[in-house]
Amino acid sequence: PRIVILISGTGSNMMAIADAVQSGDIDAMVAGVVSNRPDAAGMQHARDREIPAILVDHQQFSSREEFDANLMRAIDDLAPDLIVLAGFMRILTSDFVRHYRGRMINIHPSLLPLYQGLNTHQRAIDAGDSEHGVSVHFVTEELDGGPVIAQAVVTIDTGETAASLQHKVQIQEHILYPIIVKWCTQGRLAMTDQGVTLDSKLL
Ligand code: GRF
Repeated sequence: PRIVILISGTGSNMMAIADAVQSGDIDAMVAGVVSNRPDAAGMQHARDREIPAILVDHQQFSSREEFDANLMRAIDDLAPDLIVLAGFMRILTSDFVRHYRGRMINIHPSLLPLYQGLNTHQRAIDAGDSEHGVSVHFVTEELDGGPVIAQAVVTIDTGETAASLQHKVQIQEHILYPIIVKWCTQGRLAMTDQGVTLDSKLL
């Protein structure tokens, strides 16, 4: 299977997945990394790993539709089986999401359905929650609203800051996301009208 990873920033999740492919833990290839930002640090990390790093700069387009059409073309040129959003900070159009229905996943730093959107760590602290975490979900037209595949939980300790919590959550992200990507490339996971099905025969 061919994986395409979309990023906007550091790309630490992209690297965790690329490393799992490199080590043979995920039997697939990272066909390319696509960024909407020329300054995304993850672009250089991809090149360092000899993964094609493709820029589709959203600022070069006058509308979201035009950007998404170009993004789709860049992705489809890589003939992917799975699209992995890893810190990709653009809201996608319905046409784009529909085109990749059932084969596009995202990682979101909260225990969905809690805290969709931004600043999730601070919001969990402010709410006085004792637990927080990360979710991997299929992407649908509802932002951060697609069916959840798996979550990892961390505890919020006294004196926790958004930064310390983010660090804890990211450690879990780098464990969880490669596992889910592996399951997807093995064809074990499917999005259905009811949510997610996992074929556990191979577990
Ligand atoms: C992660 O925290 C992820 O949950 C969120 O964006 C961040 C991306 O970090 N969607 P990185 O670029 O993978 O380091």
